Amino acid sequence: MTSAENRAFGVYVHWPFCLSKCPYCDFNSHVRHAAIDEERFARAFTREIETTAARVPGRDVTSIFLGGGTPSLMAPRTVGAILDAIGQHWRVGPDVEVTLEANPTSVEATRFAGYRAAGVNRVSLGVQALDDVSLKMLGRLHSSREALDAVAIARRAFDRYSFDLIYARPGQTPAMWADELKVAITEAAEHLSLYQLTIEEDTPFFGLHAAGKLKTPDEATARALYDVTQEVCALHGLPAYEISNHARPGAECRHNLVYWRGEEYAGIGPGAHGRLDINGGRLATATDRRPEAWLMRVEANGHGVVTDDRLNSEERADEFLLMGLRLAEGIDPKRYAALAGRALDPNRIALLREEGAIAVEADGRLRVTQAGFPVLDAVVADLAA
Ligand SMILES: C[S@@+](CC[C@H](N)C(=O)[O-])C[C@H]1O[C@@H](n2cnc3c(N)ncnc32)[C@H](O)[C@@H]1O
Ligand code: SF4
Repeated sequence: MTSAENRAFGVYVHWPFCLSKCPYCDFNSHVRHAAIDEERFARAFTREIETTAARVPGRDVTSIFLGGGTPSLMAPRTVGAILDAIGQHWRVGPDVEVTLEANPTSVEATRFAGYRAAGVNRVSLGVQALDDVSLKMLGRLHSSREALDAVAIARRAFDRYSFDLIYARPGQTPAMWADELKVAITEAAEHLSLYQLTIEEDTPFFGLHAAGKLKTPDEATARALYDVTQEVCALHGLPAYEISNHARPGAECRHNLVYWRGEEYAGIGPGAHGRLDINGGRLATATDRRPEAWLMRVEANGHGVVTDDRLNSEERADEFLLMGLRLAEGIDPKRYAALAGRALDPNRIALLREEGAIAVEADGRLRVTQAGFPVLDAVVADLAA
């Protein structure tokens, strides 16, 4: 166990609105045609932070992540009010990582200096693709040029920034992707999130895909695209530290490491999830996903929590395995055993090692190999059984 002094504590804040809904996205994001009462939302965020801090007082916040939706639609003063509230109710050290997710349009880039002044020190930009045909297909509101201009503004405003790309797009070949990735690495400098396009239920892409109007790469091509991702990034000094995240050593997103390492975090805002350690147990919390319903709950009760479940030892151990094995550093099997009350099955470990899907390090840590990552879900299911 880590000591109380060096334990991580993250705060996630969800801004649930977007200018338009991208056809592949199933995140909790909503489009509103009437103006959003930002000040009212800011008051509700402040209130929910206060209520949550009363449940888990005295924490040292190590990272804050403003995610969405599109948090870069918020005025800098709204972001400032949220960060001030976090600082009033918990301790926030000078080296805290404060990330804001931004869409790379020119309008949003004009707010970067304001976010910086409000206390944001890292941005994560949703670039998605570096060619305009793909961006149009993905329903994005920005061009590749506009996205790269936003990246340049981010580079001047923040010490740290990252951007997201979606690959395994219709018609994409490994050679095309390798070229795009090389440009991305030059522009991204220290961190890239590279997601394979997934066809989510209840999205327009799901219907198009089912009707044969959207053809994603077949399994072999998808695998080749994944392999190219690993090779090109590793060659240029950005190895994967998580299945979809690449960074120069030391530039990993500290906030996301909180989730993957099974540390504690508070979830604030509509549809936000949290993991809170209270009275020796771990609570899994979730708030109302509907923005206006969440707002009214907070105004009435001080919080929008609709799920507040104590995890049993099996649930905690499974979650630890599921999240930890996404990381290149893997997990400490002793921690699994402490959570589950039983060790992982040595026979299953031996079998998966023989298959080359996992490796056991000299210090005993267990990690998924390059060959195992494309079948991560099956590996986790096998180990947890
Ligand atoms: C919560 S979104 C928010 C980012 C921001 N609103 C934007 O779109 O720029 C985080 C990231 O998830 C990724 N994503 C969302 N849906 C996806 C899907 N169906 N397949 C792959 N990646 C997806 C995108 O790369 C996106 O930037
Ligand atoms: S990808 Fe980003 S901008 Fe598009 S709908 Fe999802 S959250 Fe909103």
